[in-house]
Amino acid sequence: MSGGAGFIGSEFVRQTVTGHPEDSVIVLDKLTYAGNVRNLDLIADQSNFRFVHGDICDAALVETLVTETDVIVNFAAESHVDRSLEAPGQFIQTDVYGTYVLLEAARRAGHTRFLQVSTDEVYGDVEEGTSSEGDPLRPRSPYSASKAGGEMMVWAYRASYDMPVITTRGSNTYGPYQYPEKIIPLFITNAIDDQPLPIYGDGSAVRDYLHVTDHARGIDTALRLGTRGEDYNVGCGGATNGREIADLVLAALDKPASLKQHVRDRLGHDRRYAVNSAKLRALGWEPEIHLDRGLQATVSWYRDNEAWWRPLKSGEFWEFYRRNYKPLQAEAAPAL
Ligand code: NAD
Ligand code: TYD
Repeated sequence: MSGGAGFIGSEFVRQTVTGHPEDSVIVLDKLTYAGNVRNLDLIADQSNFRFVHGDICDAALVETLVTETDVIVNFAAESHVDRSLEAPGQFIQTDVYGTYVLLEAARRAGHTRFLQVSTDEVYGDVEEGTSSEGDPLRPRSPYSASKAGGEMMVWAYRASYDMPVITTRGSNTYGPYQYPEKIIPLFITNAIDDQPLPIYGDGSAVRDYLHVTDHARGIDTALRLGTRGEDYNVGCGGATNGREIADLVLAALDKPASLKQHVRDRLGHDRRYAVNSAKLRALGWEPEIHLDRGLQATVSWYRDNEAWWRPLKSGEFWEFYRRNYKPLQAEAAPAL
């Protein structure tokens, strides 16, 4: 599998290596700023696990590795919307071209299954109702467009070569080991340090927050029980906005509301994602962790694991932070 040193991938690897000792797992990961081998510490010495440091765009390396495997689960991606707004090129490289490299190698090797981990963001801004798997993809950010591009390659390999592909489209995920740039780990780690929690615009954009263990189990269900050629949404049906996330984090850490700081809105900010996950539920999957409980546990994890996240919030992290977050007043200033 690829991208297994990241947030969701490492949870999936931990679940697979310990829960399925009959399966051998090779992780291929480039270790970008978001990848971290320490995420795999808990299973690093297991005999059914191996780590390879490398790029999914490296066709020669991928071709070698596929000869040792019969299934690919592709988590590897550039995954942060705000970074995609600043520099889309690497997103297209990894999320579209990299997916093609994996598909082509899997085709040549005659793989028995290919699971593409995608996102509910490919449906675009959903004003009302929920997105079902057959709905058109209407991505609106360079990130979601790259993920949709990766899916298009998967569709092409399914139609042209009858490849046994499955795609999952997961909703916003949170939990331990998440790089502290996404809203929940950023707000938790900022609040621990009494730093402001930067809420984009009026903080009313809504997401369906899914715990990482539920998301990884959903991917595993689709992989093992899903029908080849099908796509599966993975969401838990929640609707929580940015202000509410800030309130939950501040309450869990007993910090003051004065830490909430509204900042300039994200460009093209999708107001709402909402998926219908009935198709995956029909395979027996159910989300188990409600946001209230999952957020409390996640706050505790970040409080107990400062040695994991403190080194990540340095250097390049703050350079990006300073470029990305602007005061709200700048937007309200009259045009000259
Ligand atoms: P992440 O950013 O934490 O991890 C991505 C991993 O991919 C990192 O370990 C990184 O080193 C690796 N990687 C990046 N480029 C690579 C390359 N060219 N070759 C090899 N490895 C490379 O991301 P995540 O949050 O764990 O997301 C995993 C997948 O799930 C992504 O495909 C993402 O689009 C999707 N997804 C994420 C969420 C979410 O809320 N985080 C929700 C739905 C779907
Ligand atoms: P994010 O965690 O970046 O996930 P995505 O954009 O992929 O859904 O953002 C989740 C929501 O939180 C989204 O509406 C943007 C908002 N947000 C903030 O208000 N402040 C922040 O600092 C971040 C990172 C996100």
